[in-house]
Amino acid sequence: MTKKAFVIGHPISHSKSPTIHKYWIAKHQLSGTYEAINTPPEKLNEIFNDVRSGQYIGGNITLPHKQAAFFLCDLTTPEAKKLKAVNTIFKKNNQIIGHNTDGYGFLANLDQQIPDWDKNIKKIIVLGAGGATRAIILALINRNANEIIILNRTLKNAKSLANQFEKFSKNTRLNTGHIEDFAKHAPNTDIVINTSSVGLNNTSFDELDLKSLPKTALVHDIVYSPINTPLLNAAKTINLKTADGLGMLLHQAAPGFEKWFGVFPEVNKELKKLVLNELNAVKNNKN
Ligand code: ATR
Repeated sequence: MTKKAFVIGHPISHSKSPTIHKYWIAKHQLSGTYEAINTPPEKLNEIFNDVRSGQYIGGNITLPHKQAAFFLCDLTTPEAKKLKAVNTIFKKNNQIIGHNTDGYGFLANLDQQIPDWDKNIKKIIVLGAGGATRAIILALINRNANEIIILNRTLKNAKSLANQFEKFSKNTRLNTGHIEDFAKHAPNTDIVINTSSVGLNNTSFDELDLKSLPKTALVHDIVYSPINTPLLNAAKTINLKTADGLGMLLHQAAPGFEKWFGVFPEVNKELKKLVLNELNAVKNNKN
């Protein structure tokens, strides 16, 4: 029987998840489908019922449903529990399990692009304190980062995030600051990670002087549209190491694919190029 999976969100037409999963279904010659279903909040329950009845084997959950879906699952994984959000659901023993693979995707992307990125890391600056930041803070705590400084435009949002994750951070010091304090923290920082929405559509931070970072610092941006964000371009200009964010989107998809179709798929250059071409095509159509 053909296994059917989905991504649900509202809106959903921009999602690149169908491209990723269809590529892997074809590559592994599987009998499966993966469709994007535009799901307004009032229809979320219906989708869960369709998974219960066996119409679907599971799927991905994206904005704005990640938190609401958490409460509709029968069981949730430790990652999902800590984030109180799910982006992947699958069935086990007739129960719907909610999982969160964002942190996995973030780590797997850096592991692939910059092997050893996490060796001897003392201080990490995380820019932003929004929805996307949460899984990244947790992932960095799980890799035993010594010190994470969350710098955000609105200081109280950074503080609230640090308070929420303090209880998980046995070996990690969590500090906060205003984004204007970047130059103060930069001189002994090993990695800068942008988790904010700045960078989308070529937007940039007003004043962020990357020159105050050590020459060995790594600059990573989870924004992947454009793939070379102004922040990454600025880092390249002064010869800092960089890592782009497209791989996070690709890698976060892999654990769900394995749960539904039984194969752990590879994130290869061909897939990255395929998704990048689609992103560029959308951009060109808009221009
Ligand atoms: P998401 O859920 O996609 O992460 P979000 O929760 O709205 O989106 O968070 C967006 C992040 O980008 C926040 O950290 C936001 O800062 P504030 O907490 O001050 O709102 C940050 N952000 C958005 N636009 C920004 C800008 N122009 N300059 C600096 N930070 C910005």
